[in-house]
Amino acid sequence: MSPILLENKIYLWYIITMKIIGHRGAKGLAPENTLISFKKGLESNADYIEFDIQLTKDNKVAVIHDYSLQRTTGINGLVSEFTLAEIKKADAGAWFSEEFRGQQLPSLEEALDFIIPKAIPVIEIKMSYFYNPDFKKYLTPILEEYSKKSHLIVISFFHPILKELKNDLKNIETAVLYNSALTAPWQVAESVKADAVHPRADSINMDIINELKKRGYPIRPWVINTEKEFKIFLDAGVDALGTDFPNILNEFLSQNNVSK
Ligand code: G3P
Ligand code: CA
Repeated sequence: MSPILLENKIYLWYIITMKIIGHRGAKGLAPENTLISFKKGLESNADYIEFDIQLTKDNKVAVIHDYSLQRTTGINGLVSEFTLAEIKKADAGAWFSEEFRGQQLPSLEEALDFIIPKAIPVIEIKMSYFYNPDFKKYLTPILEEYSKKSHLIVISFFHPILKELKNDLKNIETAVLYNSALTAPWQVAESVKADAVHPRADSINMDIINELKKRGYPIRPWVINTEKEFKIFLDAGVDALGTDFPNILNEFLSQNNVSK
């Protein structure tokens, strides 16, 4: 709240702000986790572009959500069983629509080069000790290099890796990602030295939001795609929303005079 003095009267007003996180770029508008999806997110005024990363067979970092390549490329196998070059040969656009045939899955470095400095990357580590126990070893140097150029937010459902990365890289932001209704998410955040929380939208209520705010944790729920939900979370005072349709959220915010 900020006071101003006008005609010897003090007026108080709130500036309402809300930031946009493009989920897997703009998952509702283009094939997820591709450069065209990131482009759609940037064109929709997204402040943050979220995407998923995994380690490949040759210890490179690829941008892809599922452990299996099947759903988005039609290839039968796991990301960890293919080299980055093999994965990049796959068509990651045709499954979404013919218009996007030929889209490739980017490497982490390609994604970061595309997004920075237009938006802040939100990098979700899809961590599995079954498939890639050495992920951190190969990821850390890339994060270290890019953290010199941009603010980076690193998130994961696998909270131990957030703690390890925070110990090694002091200038990255980390956020606890979670999808079940924790009674005290701030305790989880404290335990891994995370800076923010990214809860699934249906796992929080006003008591949890208020307690997180009191403790200074930015709250960025996901995945929220309808105007009804935008309004609920705008009123709740969270900091950002993850959405598959950043264009619709952007329109909603400007119609409601919400600052970014
Ligand atoms: O940003 C949070 C969200 O991406 C987590 O869920 O399954 O889409 O990676 P998922
Ligand atoms: Ca994700």
